[in-house]
Amino acid sequence: MSDVEALKKEAGIAACAYVRSGMNIGLGTGSTVKHTVVELGRMIHEEGLEIVGVPTSLATEKLALEVGIPLVKLSEIDGLDIVIDGADEYDPNFQLIKGGGAALLREKIVAQEAKAMIIVADDRKKVQTLGAFPLPIEITPFAHQATIRVLARTLDCRVNCRMAGDNPVITDNGNMIADAHCGPSITQPKVMESEILNIAGVVQVGLFNDMCDVVVLAGSNGVETLVNPNGRLE
Ligand code: 5RP
Repeated sequence: MSDVEALKKEAGIAACAYVRSGMNIGLGTGSTVKHTVVELGRMIHEEGLEIVGVPTSLATEKLALEVGIPLVKLSEIDGLDIVIDGADEYDPNFQLIKGGGAALLREKIVAQEAKAMIIVADDRKKVQTLGAFPLPIEITPFAHQATIRVLARTLDCRVNCRMAGDNPVITDNGNMIADAHCGPSITQPKVMESEILNIAGVVQVGLFNDMCDVVVLAGSNGVETLVNPNGRLE
């Protein structure tokens, strides 16, 4: 296992300390939170943990079923106790860029239904200013090139359609992903989120503002729990 993979595993497993029997848990998407999902499966089988999960992608749904986590639909329950998810970047105000795995729409729908959001990350995700990671934006397939042109004009940066080989990446919702290469310049993520959401053709943007309560961060000195002073968890 590479060093980075080991850190992802440490963070993913450490976040399970927030999980209690009886909780409804949002299950994020990505290579870090997959370790959380596997650990929750182990806790169910070996420790009698009783939870239900809501997955944020088809990939997480498949993994959760494989490891034996009972799943429910978000519409069928009265909210979530917590969601545990990964991030591509987080800044000192706990604002996030997400969507590197193209799951941002479901991730945001699930996060907005959760009483608290816990992010699992390795220390490469910590930034002073968001934007070095290209900002993922989910857009409709209809006239997607036109939407990308408007995004590039509005944001004044290069915007690419995310590709898988010769074809655009298609999300679990049948949409496409535009990646905006703004550089580390997103000092007002809430203003930027509104501007982007105002463009017709945009379904959702991977700026997660005022949602993250805790970052469980794995680095060379071990696992640190960073609590957002303005968040919902102590
Ligand atoms: C998927 C996401 C992921 O949580 C994010 O890309 C981080 O993934 P990883 O843990 O693999 O680095 O937002 O849409």
